[in-house]
Amino acid sequence: MNKATERLQKRIANSGYTSRRKAETLIADGKVKVNGEIVTELGTKVKASDMVEVEGVKIEQEDKLYILFYKPTQVITSVSDDRGRTVVTDYFKDIETRIYPVGRLDYDTSGLLILTNDGDFTNLITHPSYKIPKKYVAKLNGYLMREEVKALEKGIQLDDGWTQPAQVKIKRQDKQKETTLVEITIHEGRNRQVRRMFEHLGYKVNKLQRIQVGPLTLKGLNAGEGRVMTPHEVKTLRHLAEHGKY
Ligand code: URA
Repeated sequence: MNKATERLQKRIANSGYTSRRKAETLIADGKVKVNGEIVTELGTKVKASDMVEVEGVKIEQEDKLYILFYKPTQVITSVSDDRGRTVVTDYFKDIETRIYPVGRLDYDTSGLLILTNDGDFTNLITHPSYKIPKKYVAKLNGYLMREEVKALEKGIQLDDGWTQPAQVKIKRQDKQKETTLVEITIHEGRNRQVRRMFEHLGYKVNKLQRIQVGPLTLKGLNAGEGRVMTPHEVKTLRHLAEHGKY
């Protein structure tokens, strides 16, 4: 598509007014005007200079926002929870734009999570064909063996298929207590992947933290804190997704 134009429903969704699906309903229902004229055709292209009104409200183009957040454990990676548990967006209630998590971390996993209102960026970063390295530190209840490290580095077979080669580094091991602290870098984002990889080898993951995504780290943040990403960081991550290198 011509980069200077975008679909009407996308412009409305990007403004934060409503979701893309609801925007489509509003368009079909004749509630949307472009330059003063009602438009009911889905997929109508609009330019940045076109004036869009929804239910009589003028839609402003929203600035893009990217946040790097240190998710604590016991927080859901979502924008709402039907059981009333804390969700990641609870930490950003004072931000006026609607932001969404990029990918997910388990309830019991802490660490680096990006949130943004940029749907295109989210799709780019989370697309299975883009292999951004994500580094985790895991505490295992057992003594990880050298052959098992090798197996992880080659790839192991989980229920949903073979894992891609991982980078694995043992940081600390205690023979008496039978514990291992290990860093593992994976390039995929399958559900509970790191836990499942270690469970497959017979280890329980007692603690899991994501410490790095591409070049981004948790440096300077405490659990529950976030900061706005710099334009350079956003650009670097986009570049990494598209070209596989910084
Ligand atoms: N792998 C997991 O097992 N859990 C996460 O939260 C992220 C990766």
